[in-house]
Amino acid sequence: MALIQTQNLRKYFPIQSMSFFGKKEKVHAVDGVTFQIEEGNTFGLVGESGCGKSTVGRLLLALLEPSGGTVNCFGKDLFNITPKELFQLRAQMQIIFQDPFASLNPRKTVRQILSKPFSIHTKMSRKEQEKAILNLLDLVGLSPPEFYISRHPHEFSGGQRQRIGIARALAVNPKFVVADEAVSALDISVQAQILKLFKKLQEELHLTCLFITHDLAVVRSVCSQVGVMYLGRLVEIAAVDELFEKQCHPYTRALCSATPLPNPSATRSRKQIILEGDIPSPIHPPTGCRFHTRCPKRFDPCDQKEPELMTLEGDHQVACHLRLI
Ligand SMILES: Nc1ncnc2c1ncn2[C@@H]1O[C@H](COP(=O)(O)OP(=O)(O)OP(=O)(O)O)[C@@H](O)[C@H]1O
Ligand SMILES: [Mg+2]
Repeated sequence: MALIQTQNLRKYFPIQSMSFFGKKEKVHAVDGVTFQIEEGNTFGLVGESGCGKSTVGRLLLALLEPSGGTVNCFGKDLFNITPKELFQLRAQMQIIFQDPFASLNPRKTVRQILSKPFSIHTKMSRKEQEKAILNLLDLVGLSPPEFYISRHPHEFSGGQRQRIGIARALAVNPKFVVADEAVSALDISVQAQILKLFKKLQEELHLTCLFITHDLAVVRSVCSQVGVMYLGRLVEIAAVDELFEKQCHPYTRALCSATPLPNPSATRSRKQIILEGDIPSPIHPPTGCRFHTRCPKRFDPCDQKEPELMTLEGDHQVACHLRLI
């Protein structure tokens, strides 16, 4: 069953500058995104910086109002419910941020940081909260928890701080978690530890996740499905193994060719596709296929007709006139 479903989701940010004719300009951050996440699955969202990944994550958590389209969370239309219903849903949807230092209040102790979700969403007594916090710290591998509970964020390493961020997101047993570049700020060995922890928690707690990253190697290790974004649109969606086996969109092919393979000699012998040109501005996205200005395979209809996301065999979807097979 799909726990999260978006339909033609759009978010345009108005900007200050005006065009020559006085028309107000806007950034097309997310422009017609349709996908779903099955219960218990981790959906990886990848793409270059500025393609709209974080905006999708924020829309799914109702932290931003969409300019159009719908988000269905747990069977409810997220932007068509009462404030009370939204408040109840918020306990079930949480976010883990990219920067573990900026996302934790430096003046508060771990006890104060982790007691907040319990005070907002539950009626637990102080004693019950203390017990739950100790359990949480243990769950995310900060043990013995008594040793950490009274410390401030600056007394932790980056990896430990990210564990606190994860503990805070898991405090009130959410069903759905958005991890926005949750391991990008960490060095490779700590990254591996946090990914292992994330995978373990995801399996134990049967979490449904949106895992936002620009790193395909990370996607490979934690996600079951992956969506590739380019300039506000999804260009390809597939099961992770399928996508690494066969990329049907030239952009995905270029992204994958830049990702190192587990076998170094295979990486050396593989031909890397280097895209030419800069990413077009999201204020004036190109007509037709948004990728056509950089696409090595472009042909006639690409600059005029926008390709829709089409389903190939199985669950593999691609938005490309050529559909490389
Ligand atoms: N509040 C805002 N006002 C105006 N433009 C915004 C705002 N938030 C995001 N944008 C723009 O929307 C586009 C998508 O931004 P977003 O943060 O979703 O990208 P991203 O894919 O998460 O990038 P990164 O990988 O660098 O985090 C960018 O062009 C960005 O400049
Ligand atoms: Mg982002």
